[in-house]
Amino acid sequence: MLIIGAGGVGSVVAHKCAAVSEVFDRITLASRTKSKCDAIAASVRERLGRTIETARVDADETAELVALFRDLRPDIVINVALPYQDLTIMDACLAAGVHYVDTANYEPRDTAHFEYSWQWAYRDRFRTAGLTALLGSGFDPGVTNVFTAWLARHHFEAIEQLDIVDVNGGDHGKAFATNFNPEINIREVTAACRHWEDGAFVETPAMSRHARFHCPGNIGSYEIYRMYHEELESLVQTFPLIRRAQFWMSFSESYLTHLRVLQNVGMTGIQPVVHNGVEIVPLQFLKTVLPEPSGLGADTTGQTCIGVIARGRSRTGGTDRRVYVYNICDHAEAYREVGSQAVSYTTGVPAMIGAKQIATGVWRRPGVWNIEEMDPDPFMADLNTYGLPWQIQDPAEVGAP
Ligand SMILES: NC(=O)c1ccc[n+]([C@@H]2O[C@H](COP(=O)([O-])OP(=O)(O)OC[C@H]3O[C@@H](n4cnc5c(N)ncnc54)[C@H](OP(=O)(O)O)[C@@H]3O)[C@@H](O)[C@H]2O)c1
Repeated sequence: MLIIGAGGVGSVVAHKCAAVSEVFDRITLASRTKSKCDAIAASVRERLGRTIETARVDADETAELVALFRDLRPDIVINVALPYQDLTIMDACLAAGVHYVDTANYEPRDTAHFEYSWQWAYRDRFRTAGLTALLGSGFDPGVTNVFTAWLARHHFEAIEQLDIVDVNGGDHGKAFATNFNPEINIREVTAACRHWEDGAFVETPAMSRHARFHCPGNIGSYEIYRMYHEELESLVQTFPLIRRAQFWMSFSESYLTHLRVLQNVGMTGIQPVVHNGVEIVPLQFLKTVLPEPSGLGADTTGQTCIGVIARGRSRTGGTDRRVYVYNICDHAEAYREVGSQAVSYTTGVPAMIGAKQIATGVWRRPGVWNIEEMDPDPFMADLNTYGLPWQIQDPAEVGAP
């Protein structure tokens, strides 16, 4: 197993793979900054008594990746670097004969735009090479896609409406910070909203539609905002009977106010500007001054609650079946287990589980696949085993949007 990317998510993947030694017998963690890999390896050794190897690699350089892959000869690569590196890593997998898993779809650096077409264009090459590429094996995308596939298989004849709701009820005690890579996060939340409606994506201004959502248990009520998220693109293709699909995420008033100010003063821009004779990208500079997401864990309290609300025709003939399936993850518990907060935890655990399905042959299927195209049942069982247990309930009880 080779993990690429030693950030918040990479650290969780390393710990969780190391804990499943019967599947992952040899693990290497490689990233741009080797000292970060070494720090994670030390934590794995201390917590789990296992040694993982570390290496330095620039994943923007296919030739460097190919050399590393040929040297280590991994069966599978889990890509938890940044979406900019998806294609170079897929190229290297083809050159060296390695299966591929990621958690975010490709995005070019100079345009804040992501879509699956670039990675879907690799389908024939992975099929011909006899290699499996699994796209979007995080939480959202990832578990939300698997929840949808599982609901479609076990609860619905046809899902007609799908609402994915991502609530982070956590508090990190900082005035402003993002829970995963700030550059990717801010590009995502400032983009125009798109949702699926009767056969086409409909665009609306960013953050222009919101609703109140009452989470199960004692997590509380949150304002959730409709936004575009990448799993909508593949889910409406895999489940073509879906008439409306929307993605919602919770934001606090303080987060939105900070973001508005940063946008208004030009700090979220991605075009280079000249500062004191040096070209800098404002958003990359902002990332430099914001807290590292991987450093937020120790102070974060509260829980995440992420799930899928499906409505449609039931398998038993009813026309108005409604089901909400969700996971609740506690920031402090995640930190105690692996030293990371719940946003990294909820992404890293499914990345390990997706790789485990390929490693054990359960999901080994040549080609490029979005995760909802695979059999959801073994993955749903593993969520309960490896730290992300799920539950179901009637969405009326949570005030579904
Ligand atoms: N599906 C989901 O639910 C979900 C949720 C959250 C995040 N994600 C995805 O997970 C990924 C990781 O997120 P994160 O929060 O862990 O980010 P992060 O903390 O910023 O970590 C990214 C890591 O990738 C490394 N990296 C960047 N460019 C590289 C390159 N050219 N070569 C080698 N390594 C490189 C970075 O190295 P340096 O340390 O040297 O900068 C850093 O260690 C992102 O793609 C994000 O979009 C998915």
